[in-house]
Amino acid sequence: MNYAIEVQNAWKIYRQRLLEVQALRGLSLKAKPGEMIAITGPSGSGKSTLLHLLGALDTPSKGSVKILGQDISKMSDNQLATFRRQQLGFVFQFFNLLPTLTAQENAALPLLLDGVPRSTALQNADRLLQRVGLGDRLQHRPDELSGGQQQRVALARALVAEPKLLLADEPTGNLDSKASETVLNLLEELRQETQITMILVTHDDRVAARAKRNLHLIDGQIAEDRRRPKNNGDSP
Ligand SMILES: Nc1ncnc2c1ncn2[C@@H]1O[C@H](COP(=O)(O)OP(=O)(O)O)[C@@H](O)[C@H]1O
Ligand SMILES: [Mg+2]
Repeated sequence: MNYAIEVQNAWKIYRQRLLEVQALRGLSLKAKPGEMIAITGPSGSGKSTLLHLLGALDTPSKGSVKILGQDISKMSDNQLATFRRQQLGFVFQFFNLLPTLTAQENAALPLLLDGVPRSTALQNADRLLQRVGLGDRLQHRPDELSGGQQQRVALARALVAEPKLLLADEPTGNLDSKASETVLNLLEELRQETQITMILVTHDDRVAARAKRNLHLIDGQIAEDRRRPKNNGDSP
């Protein structure tokens, strides 16, 4: 079995001058391609730290993290940056769009940074923006869009380079319930269409209920790894 994610006994220790924080304490996790996993847990339990490892934004202090078959501890910073740009997509709570760029340019950014010709990059961004229902907003700047629309631009940007793994940290944390619903429906549809693996951090149980598999973190360890028998979008 080729796992999309294979974490073995990972520790993350933040060392400050006098203090050492064990943010992850011997965590192991395997995820199959195409899985959607929601990660929940109290504040400070290590959710963001884990997401940073899974997003190759950081490396473990001990143990191993393999993403799409690659051991991220064995890669240089440059290799990690290229790997992230080409294989991973990120969605954040606060959208993180560039304010001076249009929706289309924002969505095209990963391709532009990767040296894809501008016309091709913009064409692909156009296609993704159509897919998330923003075909009539290509030339709008972020401040001319609602929060839900901005998050859909961010989703288009995250998927434009056709990554195999999408990481989302509180993607609906800043949206009202209707916009959250739209974004969650899109995530699920796009996962089914592309067979992308999705990892979603949330403190919202209704959001977590949308994923078939829920990991609950406590004190840097997986306290519960639960699979839901059915995932029809309803509350459990
Ligand atoms: N860069 C850092 N330096 C020191 N401590 C950190 C750093 N990042 C996170 N921590 C600590 O690690 C623990 C886990 O943090 P985090 O992964 O952000 O938890 P969560 O996302 O679940 O709220 C917390 O105790 C936090 O204070
Ligand atoms: Mg966090």
